[in-house]
Amino acid sequence: MTDRLKNKVAIITGAGQGIGEATARAFAAEGAAVIIAEFNEQTGTAVAASLNAQGYQALFIKTDVSKPEQCRAMVDEALRAFGRIDVLVNNAGINVFHDPLSMPEDEWKRCFAVDLEGVWHCTRAVLPGMRAHKKGSVVNIASVHSFAIIPNTFPYPVAKHGLLGLTRSLGIQYAADGVRVNAISPGYIETQIAVDYWNTFDDPDAERLRTYDMHPPKRIGKPEEVAMTAVFLASDEAPFINATAIVIDGGKSVMYHD
Ligand SMILES: NC(=O)c1ccc[n+]([C@@H]2O[C@H](COP(=O)([O-])OP(=O)(O)OC[C@H]3O[C@@H](n4cnc5c(N)ncnc54)[C@H](O)[C@@H]3O)[C@@H](O)[C@H]2O)c1
Repeated sequence: MTDRLKNKVAIITGAGQGIGEATARAFAAEGAAVIIAEFNEQTGTAVAASLNAQGYQALFIKTDVSKPEQCRAMVDEALRAFGRIDVLVNNAGINVFHDPLSMPEDEWKRCFAVDLEGVWHCTRAVLPGMRAHKKGSVVNIASVHSFAIIPNTFPYPVAKHGLLGLTRSLGIQYAADGVRVNAISPGYIETQIAVDYWNTFDDPDAERLRTYDMHPPKRIGKPEEVAMTAVFLASDEAPFINATAIVIDGGKSVMYHD
């Protein structure tokens, strides 16, 4: 790797596994100091320890992004440790998939608390510092569910559509302060969240193969492929990219049918 994020300090939420872990590893390899803001103490500690063992700067801060006070405390601790925050990757997210009318009442709140409100809590905590420095990049991990619908996945796409609205609103609001806010919309990426989804089917392996087959490249994405795009958006290579979303789905959302 090179030094594309040299001297930058980046918070990555949900970095204990999956896309967040891949992003933390890619950011560290590109020279950033990374804060692993994760509520799973075991995975968060393990990722930070493995990065430190490779000679990178990484700090685990136990954070539940659905709790505003924990997000504020996490950012305060990161500021005490590193002095400023250049990048926030809002990656922590959960799949909450239901048939709308049979969805238990609390599931709506559980989904929005993490997938949308969690992003706002963390972003709100870093924005004052970024505005003061006249520079910052917020990268929100949205989804193809931000613009397309798979039946029986309610209310996840509602929250992810909202996340695109948040990205655009804040990107416009703070652009003149040097803060860029963008989203990445991954399609199917091979992580635990995808495996858990396949496991909801009677034949998980058949569903996995069906998923591969429905994509133009006949495979699904890798966490590292999302991480590389996050590196680009966080770097100084994308200074005029703001309030938009980059789709990473192998072209699936453009294909009418095969
Ligand atoms: N995997 C996919 O196919 C896919 C596709 C589109 C979008 N996404 C989005 O990418 C992001 C990461 O997904 P993934 O597949 O790596 O998921 P994952 O389940 O493998 O990892 C999510 C991580 O977030 C953490 N987390 C969950 N709730 C949290 C909370 N309240 N506070 C802090 N951390 C929390 C988990 O502990 C876990 O480490 C999510 O926002 C997801 O919606 C994933």
